[in-house]
Amino acid sequence: MLEPIGKEQDEKFGLNSELLGTLKRGTTLVEYSSPNIAKKFHAGHLRSTIIGNFIANLKQALGNNVIRMNYLGDWGMQFGLLGAGFGQFGCQEKLKQNPLQHLFEVYVKVNKEAEQNEEMKQAARDFFRQLEQRESEAVSLWKQFREITVDEYQHIYKRLGVHFDIYSGESFHQDGAQEVVQQLQSRGLLKTSDKGTGIVDLSPAGDMSSVCTVLRSDGTSLYITRDLAAAIDRAEKYSFDEMIYVTDKSQSSHFQQLFQILLTLGHSWADRCRHVPFGMVRGMKTRSGEVVFLEDVLDEARARMLHNMSQSKTTKEMDNPEDTAEKVGISALLVQDFKGPLTSDYSFNWDRMLQAQGDTGVFLQYTHARLCSLIQRNEGVEAATFDPSLLLDQTSIAVLQHLLRYDEVLYQSAQDLQPKHLVNFLLKLSHLIASAHRELPVKGSSQDVAQARLRLFCGACSVLANGMRILGITTVERM
Ligand code: ARG
Repeated sequence: MLEPIGKEQDEKFGLNSELLGTLKRGTTLVEYSSPNIAKKFHAGHLRSTIIGNFIANLKQALGNNVIRMNYLGDWGMQFGLLGAGFGQFGCQEKLKQNPLQHLFEVYVKVNKEAEQNEEMKQAARDFFRQLEQRESEAVSLWKQFREITVDEYQHIYKRLGVHFDIYSGESFHQDGAQEVVQQLQSRGLLKTSDKGTGIVDLSPAGDMSSVCTVLRSDGTSLYITRDLAAAIDRAEKYSFDEMIYVTDKSQSSHFQQLFQILLTLGHSWADRCRHVPFGMVRGMKTRSGEVVFLEDVLDEARARMLHNMSQSKTTKEMDNPEDTAEKVGISALLVQDFKGPLTSDYSFNWDRMLQAQGDTGVFLQYTHARLCSLIQRNEGVEAATFDPSLLLDQTSIAVLQHLLRYDEVLYQSAQDLQPKHLVNFLLKLSHLIASAHRELPVKGSSQDVAQARLRLFCGACSVLANGMRILGITTVERM
């Protein structure tokens, strides 16, 4: 039986092999995306979203129970600024119409104002204190900011084909953060600095040459304190076998400190926590300038792709060209991002990423669509059995040998969690398929040769579709 092409929706992404069987399985918690509500979106959040989604898909494909978590930056002094700023510059009407846009406007204005105006700063501190003391007016405004931002992000995640099982956030862990501080104190690990802040000594020699601040002088928690509480909470709730955090590499030392403090507190599972760092994206610009909203990047990818499709002579007629342009445009973004080592910085380049012929997501989609159409055109030819000795020419052998490497590539990806192995494997496969299209015609060949070749194309299509889905690409069958 031929596999239904491009529709392998089973949870294991269509995999099964002995090599992969040797990998340990269990519950993997992947935390990714994690945007900040009252701060600016940056390209790093897009990277975290797509890389985290890839890792979650990969882990799921390899038979793990995966928990996908978004940990929102929904707490901290910046909410004081936004809350106070909203009182001055905000408008409920605009907030309803275009939430992210409006919050961003307020954010820009209030930050500027606070730079030169001591009163504004004081108002921000006051607002945040009200929030910490759970005063209802402040809390309800904060809730509103959080809810509308999550709604907007969900819309974007849907476009990206990304979902989360849990929306958590820093705000959930204020009380937990204070408990962690108490634990540190009762074990004699909490010291007070000259400035009156609470610190933990992390230096190997115990000489305070490397310390981590866990408490402000006014007794409020910090980013790391909330992370400590969040990690402990997750270990209790989900008893994960491993936990993976995906953020840009500037946070590497933060996670090192986090894991070290957890271990010091006796949480041996911290050894099974892992940070996957990634580099910066340079020059992410849309036609209207510097990117402020993630959605603008997706819109531009779709618009540019639609334009390219309308210019291309090979574009097929289709019911919904926008939808195809959206899927292909997003796959171009992903492939550009995934081609190199994650820790490298790279320059964002619209023209290069959207090339139909280069090593791009467009090329992968094109190869997939072309295979689907070949298979559809030859629907009557397929057979339950075929003669493998008819696939002994060089081109067929090259494709077959490459296909056999698929499991090994996934195995390798599972070790270092880098998408580049799979991306480069699929690009190479697409090049081999291009030669196969030229050299192994199905139409016009004798029945048994046609059957054998079709079988080869079906296998290639199935692996291509599986691999693309693990990367987070929604495949198209026509373009
Ligand atoms: N919200 C943070 C940021 O945008 C990322 C959170 C990463 N995860 C964590 N557990 N600290 O920088």
